[in-house]
Amino acid sequence: MAMKTQAVMLKARELGKGIPAFNCPYVEMVKPIAEAIKDENSVALIEVARVEWEKFYSQSPERIAEEFHKYKSEGHTFLHLDHIPVIDEDYKEVDYMDLISRAIKAGFQSVMIDGSRLSLDENIRTTAEAAAMAHEADIPIEAELGAVMGHENKEMPPYEEIFASHMGFTKLDEAEKFVKESSCNWLSVAVGNIHGAVADAVRDQKKPEARIDVDHVADLYKVCGIPLVLHGGSGIRHESVLEAIKAGITKINVGTEVRQCYEQALRERSGDVEYAREKVYLRTRDYIKNYMYNTDLADQIC
Ligand code: 13P
Repeated sequence: MAMKTQAVMLKARELGKGIPAFNCPYVEMVKPIAEAIKDENSVALIEVARVEWEKFYSQSPERIAEEFHKYKSEGHTFLHLDHIPVIDEDYKEVDYMDLISRAIKAGFQSVMIDGSRLSLDENIRTTAEAAAMAHEADIPIEAELGAVMGHENKEMPPYEEIFASHMGFTKLDEAEKFVKESSCNWLSVAVGNIHGAVADAVRDQKKPEARIDVDHVADLYKVCGIPLVLHGGSGIRHESVLEAIKAGITKINVGTEVRQCYEQALRERSGDVEYAREKVYLRTRDYIKNYMYNTDLADQIC
């Protein structure tokens, strides 16, 4: 029987490996990313977030699912629905249950609900509501607690200030309560990571190099006991990521660095999609091989 995403995550945790989840803000990125994962004989998630069909070019969850089903490889690629915010980056309310239900119908194998802009109790309530729907469909659900900054349409404080003051970091007591009461399967945490910017004026900028409070990851993993997720995976100091995986991170979201590689290539050869796809393919293979050390991971996992 085909392996399910939850089993992949738990096996990766047991092996001490991180599973990358590659964002697709352009429909055309699905093919080269899927091929790169397969050609490295690796295992990874392919994901799309609401902001990527609202503000970029992924069109809809159904369109990404259609593309995924064309290029997927059994035992290598898994389709995940990234950030479905309850309150979005422009502080507007979102019909999150409808979007998650559409994604489940389209064949997504895991989903995310993001109630991180709500109070703790409201985050627990909405996550539990979405979790019931995901579990009914027999798929796992990721939630977020703490503030992983960068998506909002406003200027972020300097990175060093965020790190030094632990601004927005996920709190241990809240995380323990959240996991017990929300039924989420994986938890996205704020531990020094920041998202690449998505607002129009700044989305081309290079991200500041982030690092991770690895002791805090270890403490969170101790109280949560479920796979933890690191958002904002682009441009984090390499040793930080490797240590964070040892400490409890299992899934790592990678968006900005592959998106910027695609966009840069389109600019270089005025809109040549095949050239840009080739660049994405090579970049994804390089990331899997030289950053995650995940070549041949499929042999160990599936
Ligand atoms: P980056 O764009 O910073 O890699 O973050 C991706 C992400 O976390 C998507 O959820």
